[in-house]
Parts: sequence; C-alpha cells; structure tokens
Amino acid sequence: MPKAERRTISFTLNGEPVEIVVPVHRYLVDVIREDLGMMGTKRACDQGVCGSCSIIMNGLLTSACLTLAVRADGASIETIEGLGSLEAGLHPIQQSFAAHGATQCGYCTPGMIMSAKALLDENPDPTVEEIKHWLTGNLCRCTGYAKIIEAVRAAAEGRTEPAVPISVPTVKAIED
Ligand code: FES
Ligand code: FES
Repeated sequence: MPKAERRTISFTLNGEPVEIVVPVHRYLVDVIREDLGMMGTKRACDQGVCGSCSIIMNGLLTSACLTLAVRADGASIETIEGLGSLEAGLHPIQQSFAAHGATQCGYCTPGMIMSAKALLDENPDPTVEEIKHWLTGNLCRCTGYAKIIEAVRAAAEGRTEPAVPISVPTVKAIED
C-alpha cells in the first residue's frame, strides 16, 4: 500500500509552539488528542454536529473533527486545557459551569465551554436567546441545557455563583 503523503506543520497550541509531521488526511482532533495528548477535546459524532470537539482556531469556533490538521499550519489554537485547570486556576466560565451544576457526565462540557468562550469573546453581554441560539451546535445528553445557559449568562455578568444557591444531594453510606 502506498504511504500517505506527510507534511510538517507548526502552530501554537494554548500559547505553546508545536511542530509535528502529519499525514495529509489526518484530522486535527486526532492530532490534538492522540499525538499531543490533550484529551479535553472530545470526539463524539465525528460529523460536525455535536460540538464535542469544539476548539478556537484563529479566534473562530471550529470543529476539530472536520478540520484537516494541515489546515492548522500557522494557526493559533485554543483548547479547554488553555483556559484553566484546578492546578492553575479555573477560567470564570469553567467556575460558572461548576457552580451552576452545568455539567453531569462532562463529555460535552469542554466543547460547551469553548463555544461559550467564543461567544463571550465576540459578544460579552449576550441575551438568553442569543446564548440559546449560539449553543445550538453543542449537544448535551444530560443536563437539559437550562443550567448551561444560566452558567453562560452568569459568566457574562461577571459572577460565577448562581443567583439562587443550588443544593447538591449527598449520598449516605448504608450502614450495616
Ligand atoms: S465530534 Fe466534532 S462535532 Fe461532533
Ligand atoms: S453533561 Fe453529559 S452530555 Fe452534557
């Protein structure tokens, strides 16, 4: 079988320079996850419809599962790892998602947060309707969306805590 053509590409990933050789048919989601070990960017539908693989490339919200890695040559890429972490401190949108209970299984969450970041970068004070419209490209199977929308609106208002504190159910161990 003939070997796939390969190219050397370079880009910045969360501010760090990256140079890597990739087959021309390899998708950016695979380079980010498998070659560079950034597992926060998720893959689900692989067809550009669920938003799990959302990243920000050159300031634009981008589906990494639809983007050939060679298209990233010279680009500036942000993934969820670049926003914040427990060690380095969470980004306000991450804090707001956590405080509002806007994540359950968490699979959609990195893509949701990257999408919310792209929205707030472009429109720092979106209405609830604008948030709903923007997030139509991000699917969540768990939360029902209300808490996600509240979390994005709260982040836009510069507060990360919910207006009404939420209570988190606790599980008690069954004693013998
Ligand atoms: S995995 Fe890319 S949009 Fe669903
Ligand atoms: S939190 Fe599970 S899919 Fe959104």
